[in-house]
Amino acid sequence: MDVKIVEHPLAAARLTAMRDERSDSPRFRAALHELTMMLVYEATRGVAVTEYGIRTPVAAATGYRLGNPPVLVPVLRAGLGMADAAQAMIPDASMGFVGLARDEETHEPYAYMESLPDDLAGRHVIVLDPMVATGGSLLRCCEMIAARGCTDIDLVSVLCAPDGIAKLESSGIAMRMTTAAVDPELNDKAYIVPGLGDAGDRQFGAY
Ligand code: URA
Repeated sequence: MDVKIVEHPLAAARLTAMRDERSDSPRFRAALHELTMMLVYEATRGVAVTEYGIRTPVAAATGYRLGNPPVLVPVLRAGLGMADAAQAMIPDASMGFVGLARDEETHEPYAYMESLPDDLAGRHVIVLDPMVATGGSLLRCCEMIAARGCTDIDLVSVLCAPDGIAKLESSGIAMRMTTAAVDPELNDKAYIVPGLGDAGDRQFGAY
């Protein structure tokens, strides 16, 4: 899997705000919103564009629009805080939703919401999930997308752990990752270390 780590002073400052335990929910959400814009900007650097003719007030010029606007898929709940930012960057994008929870007996992720176009063949899908820890739920999401015929999947995440990247890579599903950092490890509760805590709780104040 191609993993692009966005190393930029402005991205690093937003990631720092998210990591800092003193950041309250409004500050955390604002930093996530701004960082998502930067990550989506990098993730879409190579997408195809269509040229069309426009006129400036002075002369004829060439205009550009996305050739194949993507489907954005925030993974509930933590990915919700990335949805507005990604759609602001790509106003022509459509949006699907995937909600995943962990089965208490099998510990495997299961989907409690799958709101996606039936046919994703030929579509570009950008999955939004801020944290890739074990990679289990993100992989389940990618399997659901691939099962609908998609072969063009971008993942946009704030933070990844090496275990999660390895799990996604071993799946055999073609995908690319754009992230702000890869942290060294997981703790015994599968939190990323040093990480930023629970990205859902920190956004929505449920702690
Ligand atoms: N999900 C989170 O929100 N935080 C982690 O550290 C791992 C998974």
